[in-house]
Amino acid sequence: MFWPKLNSHKIKLHVFEALSKNSNYRTEDILGIPGTFLDTEVFYDDAPFLKEAPFLSALIANPNHIGCHTLSGEHEEMFSGTQEIEKELLRICSEEIFKGEPNSIDGYVASGGTEANIEALWIYRNYFINEFNADHNEIAIVYSEDTHYSLAKGCDLLNLDSIVLKVNESDRAIEISDLELKIDEAVEKGKKYFIVTLNMATTMFGSVDDIEKITSYFNLLQLNYKLHIDAAYGGFIYPFTNSSSLYNFANPNITSISIDCHKLLQAPYGTGIFMIRKNFMQYVCTEKASYVKGKDYTLCGSRSGANAICVWMILHAHGASGWLVKMNHLLDTTTDVCAALDEMKVEYFRDPFLNIITIRSESISAELAHRYYLIPDSYEDPKWYKMVIMPHVKQGVLHRFLSDLSKETSLR
Ligand SMILES: Cc1ncc(COP(=O)(O)O)c(C=O)c1O
Repeated sequence: MFWPKLNSHKIKLHVFEALSKNSNYRTEDILGIPGTFLDTEVFYDDAPFLKEAPFLSALIANPNHIGCHTLSGEHEEMFSGTQEIEKELLRICSEEIFKGEPNSIDGYVASGGTEANIEALWIYRNYFINEFNADHNEIAIVYSEDTHYSLAKGCDLLNLDSIVLKVNESDRAIEISDLELKIDEAVEKGKKYFIVTLNMATTMFGSVDDIEKITSYFNLLQLNYKLHIDAAYGGFIYPFTNSSSLYNFANPNITSISIDCHKLLQAPYGTGIFMIRKNFMQYVCTEKASYVKGKDYTLCGSRSGANAICVWMILHAHGASGWLVKMNHLLDTTTDVCAALDEMKVEYFRDPFLNIITIRSESISAELAHRYYLIPDSYEDPKWYKMVIMPHVKQGVLHRFLSDLSKETSLR
């Protein structure tokens, strides 16, 4: 990974230059577009600070990045300046962070992990239907019981059956015996096409599914499957903290990956990124979008170009090496907390490359968990409480939490 750290002046120049290449609602004769700059009563464009604020200026200029700009061919020309920034962002994520070959990955800035995950399911459903004449009933979506609920949403929307795999209670690994049993059963009942989703990492535990075990099973049985990685949570930490990660496009079993910038990257909400190998986006090309130059391939349709710009800005404010340092700092703090929990003999789950610690409910009172905003796996019957070592989590708070927990454990 080598994208550079830029000073704020260079970042500003780059964004303003891109904005200047877009069409401008204020200065040009734009008559056919149902879009315009932001409401001037609230967002006045003559505020002097805007000259120093590229993201706010982009918000106010309001470029629409509708469509998918990594595809070759025609694109909406009005916003081509800032579309270039989105393409560069996709290049950094897919090639530098996720090891794709140059120009081998398509993608776009989606509204979040939910949309990016459902986009993947939608593409693979249509791929199996178009390429293999698959019937709906012959397709199944496979994922673990610790998987984010966006997958269940996707099954519901796309009218596809799911196969939900059990995980081991303590190490949260997918149970291979359950995988074998359920896939055998599904094949017997007529399922022929599998959309497999693996986690890097899960929402509640930060557990990372064992990609080698799962893909070797599907490969051994020569099952027809496509693999999507839900890296909505782990996408901006795991590739930095685990240099031997197999969750990237160098792994031929993976076809698509979703990552969220509005989690660890500290970008505003509305900044998920969907990435997929070339020659797959066309399965969701909406031909009916005939008035959109270049057509639409996304679930959301219109989307703000400012989102891509702010993610590009955050990445360049740190550079690849700055981001590596930042993520390793979170990892070290998490490891320190785990060492303190070990001393207290508190039971918890933690993946060594992630900043989530999930404590068993027997080891912490509901009152203490509530006081520090730990999140239960279920509000009705909590078995686990998770803490996430995010950038706002300071040492002082951790010390107070650990000292309060220690008082509790010493009374047991
Ligand atoms: C693993 C995982 N996938 C998907 C999502 C959904 O992301 P969003 O809320 O951005 O749609 C989340 C959100 O917590 C997540 O943790």
